[in-house]
Amino acid sequence: MTNTAAAKILVFDSGVGGLSILQALQQALPTCEYHYASDNRAFPYGTKNTGFLLERVHSVLQGLIDKTQADLIVVACNTASTLVLPRIRQHFTIPVVGVVPAIKPAAQQSATAVIGLLGTPGTVARPYTKALIEEFASGCEVTSVGSAELVTMAEQALRGTPPPREKLSAILKPLFADSRLDTIVLACTHFPLIKQHLIEAAPRAVNWIDSGEAIARRVSFLLASESTRKPHRQATENSAIFTADSADIDLLADALKTFMLNRIEYIRL
Ligand code: DGL
Repeated sequence: MTNTAAAKILVFDSGVGGLSILQALQQALPTCEYHYASDNRAFPYGTKNTGFLLERVHSVLQGLIDKTQADLIVVACNTASTLVLPRIRQHFTIPVVGVVPAIKPAAQQSATAVIGLLGTPGTVARPYTKALIEEFASGCEVTSVGSAELVTMAEQALRGTPPPREKLSAILKPLFADSRLDTIVLACTHFPLIKQHLIEAAPRAVNWIDSGEAIARRVSFLLASESTRKPHRQATENSAIFTADSADIDLLADALKTFMLNRIEYIRL
């Protein structure tokens, strides 16, 4: 067994979106112990103001680290990561991996240099996202769509209600206005959860890019490095942690089981 065998990883998002990142992590690092946390009390993040989010994410992560004693945090939320990473990294001593829009690989892979960026209203408006475009995709035409409705549809999909195709088509329409578009960045962790529906609603085939595998590679690298090395410890049970007890969490139980999250807990934060 390697030192990564029972590393404890906290995967954090406003809602269920971070499960798309958890899936990639579980494929790459199946023996780690995972604590998946949703700040459902403050969901959604994509329409919240930046001052609120800076305070909220900091205090919720503090509570979650105290509770889980995690070795590493993955902020599996583009809306939060594009804003709070510098502050969080300054404050916490354990490694923090953020999920930010995969603009660099999109620019590298696009043959036409015409890219779509699909995120939350918060993410597409962030100076951080604009700086990523400037740095890695300055030779590309980038069209951004920020949709809070798509986040809600992904939440509903995990609770058993598939997204209506005509609504997905309407959200995607501005991206396909340029017939040269060949690549779309899924810049919200909720969106890979409904990728198949997006593919079916799109007017033609394009390359859809998300951050899951890159994050799994980064976490594997950090866990293998000396500074993150932990004494050997047996993994205990994974858990899904919610910041508010709401009735519709019951509807998520089956989906959570497919991510090996059999235990549901609440923490009032
Ligand atoms: N899953 C989050 C992201 O990656 C945001 C969803 C929300 O608006 O809360 O941006």
